[in-house]
Amino acid sequence: MAFMRPPCRALIDLGALTRNVGLLRDRTDAEVMAIVKADGYGHGAVRSAAAAVAGGASRLGIAHASEALSLLGELPEVPIFSWIFGAGSDLAPAVDAGIELSAGAPWAVEAIAAGARTAGRTARVHLALDSGMAREGARIEQWDELVAVALAERRIEVVGIWSHLACADEPGSHETVRQTELFIDAVTRAERAGATPEMRHLANSAGTLWHPETHFEVVRPGISLYGLAPDGSNPAEHGLSPVMRLEAELVSVREVPAATPVSYGGTATVGPTRLGTVPLGYADGAPRQASGRGAWVSVEGHRAEVVGRICMDQFVVDLGPESTARAGDTVTVFGAGPGDPGVDDWARAADTVNYTITTSLGPRVPREYV
Ligand SMILES: Cc1ncc(COP(=O)(O)O)c(C=O)c1O
Repeated sequence: MAFMRPPCRALIDLGALTRNVGLLRDRTDAEVMAIVKADGYGHGAVRSAAAAVAGGASRLGIAHASEALSLLGELPEVPIFSWIFGAGSDLAPAVDAGIELSAGAPWAVEAIAAGARTAGRTARVHLALDSGMAREGARIEQWDELVAVALAERRIEVVGIWSHLACADEPGSHETVRQTELFIDAVTRAERAGATPEMRHLANSAGTLWHPETHFEVVRPGISLYGLAPDGSNPAEHGLSPVMRLEAELVSVREVPAATPVSYGGTATVGPTRLGTVPLGYADGAPRQASGRGAWVSVEGHRAEVVGRICMDQFVVDLGPESTARAGDTVTVFGAGPGDPGVDDWARAADTVNYTITTSLGPRVPREYV
């Protein structure tokens, strides 16, 4: 069957990703564990991982052990850390593949040990402390028990201790200091009990960029690899270069008279003007919540506001009455050039965070690597 080029694409600048890792490395003496979960925040896990390692990352983090396992032969050969698996999982393949796993409760230690026995190997395990997210890991009251259970397990080697920061992107929040102190306390208690972890890790992008006291031996940046700031501020202010550019071609241009209702529900009426149709919708990651909230695109360098509701496959932009745009012209939905809307503009319009914009990019949008 003949190949037909889709009218939209995400251009992924791997050089920018490599540079972003270099910038993070300049901020820390710690090893960089590049977080490439959720298909590399929508950028493609395998290509992102290779670019991150080229920039000096020496470890990879992928949340779901099943995702890590499915990518194994394609990823660069550096240690991989995964922290999510189901209680009934057979972890033998993950242990056998050398994936380092997190345990935040005795049941997880037992599941990993069972996998290790089946695989006939020793599992490298990172013990997880719940220092303030209430999401994963043992609370400090259960910490000593978790450490004791892990140290008693012959098939397990405790190589790491980790936790996750909840508020490191909020300037002036005391929570990061509190979490860091609790983390240090937990490490001390584990060491007193006989653990000899090679690495402690706590810092996400915000910790890596703004809280050097959270770095320890390994940092785990995610969003900043992709050139976006964790607090939604302008990436350039931090020296970061956005990696993804989302483009489409106008698939239709029409002239409309005054008071023309646009899209489902006719929630917006415009005109007289020229309207353009962009072949991207919420199935592709253009957030429907951004409808009528000031989201905009650039059409051949001219700003055009999104009008009416964003549909599943398309949305409409107001090109202006004088526009000379034609079907086939390039629309920049977001990018990093001067005059381009940014991922953060879309995030603000949709009342969400930049993370959700790139990770929501649908499978219909081809990723093209440049
Ligand atoms: C455990 C863990 N570490 C690191 C990260 C990376 O965080 P960020 O993308 O904010 O740098 C995440 C992402 O949510 C995470 O869940």
